[in-house]
Amino acid sequence: MDSLWDVLVVTAITIILYRNCFRLLRSKFCNQLPLGSLGWPFIGETIEFISCAYSDRPETFMDKRRRLYGKVFKSHIFGSPTIVSTDAEVSKFILQSDAKAFVPSYPKSLTELMGKSSILLINGSLQKRIHGLVGAFFKSSHLKAQITKDMECYVKLSMASWTENNPIYLQDETKNISFQVLVKILISLNPGQSMEFLKKQFQEFIAGLMALPVNIPGSRLYQSLQAKRNMVKLVKKIIQERKSCGISTVPKDVMEVLLKDENEELTDDLIAENMIDMMIPGEDSVPILMTLAVKYLSDCPAALQQLTEENLKMKGQKEQLGEALHWSDYLSMPFTQSVITETLRMGNIIIGVMRKAMKDMKIKGYLILKGWSVLTYFRSVHLDDNHYDCPYKFNPWRWQERELSSCNFTPFGGGQRLCPGLDLARLEASIFLHHFVTHFRWIAEEDKIINFPTVRMKKRMPVWVKRRRDP
Ligand code: HEM
Repeated sequence: MDSLWDVLVVTAITIILYRNCFRLLRSKFCNQLPLGSLGWPFIGETIEFISCAYSDRPETFMDKRRRLYGKVFKSHIFGSPTIVSTDAEVSKFILQSDAKAFVPSYPKSLTELMGKSSILLINGSLQKRIHGLVGAFFKSSHLKAQITKDMECYVKLSMASWTENNPIYLQDETKNISFQVLVKILISLNPGQSMEFLKKQFQEFIAGLMALPVNIPGSRLYQSLQAKRNMVKLVKKIIQERKSCGISTVPKDVMEVLLKDENEELTDDLIAENMIDMMIPGEDSVPILMTLAVKYLSDCPAALQQLTEENLKMKGQKEQLGEALHWSDYLSMPFTQSVITETLRMGNIIIGVMRKAMKDMKIKGYLILKGWSVLTYFRSVHLDDNHYDCPYKFNPWRWQERELSSCNFTPFGGGQRLCPGLDLARLEASIFLHHFVTHFRWIAEEDKIINFPTVRMKKRMPVWVKRRRDP
């Protein structure tokens, strides 16, 4: 028995060493691979990457290597040899490539939770189809008009409960508002028992996104998968009810958009699973956008004053006309949009995206080998002083003369997988800021931005509010 065990161990070690030697030899002979270091055996440079990621300046990991090796370099993080791109043009090329060149790459626990047919993982024609359908629906003025009313309603309801005697935790408030909006857009669920059930299950579900990929009873991943099953069951019940009542001619939510499509691959199971998976990119990012905007405004009185004046003016004009604000009114206030853009640039809510190379590729002279991971790191581009003067300064005025559509500004990614929720994220942030600054003055308590594993405020952004008495 002992000797069989020995043989197995020796064989396993030989295979691992052989694989690593093969990779190293391959990379040694490929002298066009970007410069860089693969770090320690197995762990590579992961520990340094993570310790920088937890600091105030996660990009120091990149800065150090950019100085030594240039804007594109090789490393070894999260168990894979990785090419890191902090070069806007190289990243643009990668994002625009199709699945023959690069496919999404996520940690194992995340892929298990999302399932094989998640829009975040699938490639080819089905991904294009779902992306196109969802993107067109999110862009439609019909949805924007309808969702503006819902967004206003949830924002006002939340703000009505705020008191002046206790701090308001903005991160929690905005999370609550955004979740309600997201669920309304996806499956038209209104606040109530099912919404509370979904919210609770979703928290269980996302707790497993960064867990160890061990799926045994009692493990974090197991509990998260169970929560996902519970949510999928609820969504499938809603699908059945919707089908039995007949689906509206003009779809009212993403679920109906997908149910109405004739593509046979869009089964009820796939649609139900994707309703949950689509909550992942939207659930955390929009509330953090709103929270960070308030944080930066609290630290920049001149910007806060200009934004408040712009919003009070719009409110006054609409009141005179006896009209409610339309979605296009919210998006037409240029300074408010510049504040949101600058928050996206500085906040780097999504620091970058990971891909896996499906074949050997050469981009701008850099070789990327098949099977390697690629990290397109937006944060370094957004904070590069070659692209932005004083990049660490919150300066919304810089957007008055700048183009938004540039490969130096990619908070929503780009190419094939450009975030379909980008307009909605801006609209929701604009509505929240409008009602916040026109109804309240506030004093923010000292708080700190944490950047890893997701961007958030250490103390959940406590603010002391006072209702405005002026018109
Ligand atoms: C501030 C808010 C947001 C930010 C910064 C953001 C950022 C991103 C980024 C960078 C990607 C590209 C991922 C990749 O290339 O692999 C993405 C994809 C995606 N986002 Fe967003 N997002 C936001 C809000 C939303 C919202 C509100 C929704 C609504 C449901 C949404 C739905 C999606 C979906 C479905 C994808 C996947 C698209 C695909 O792979 O085809 N996002 N988002």
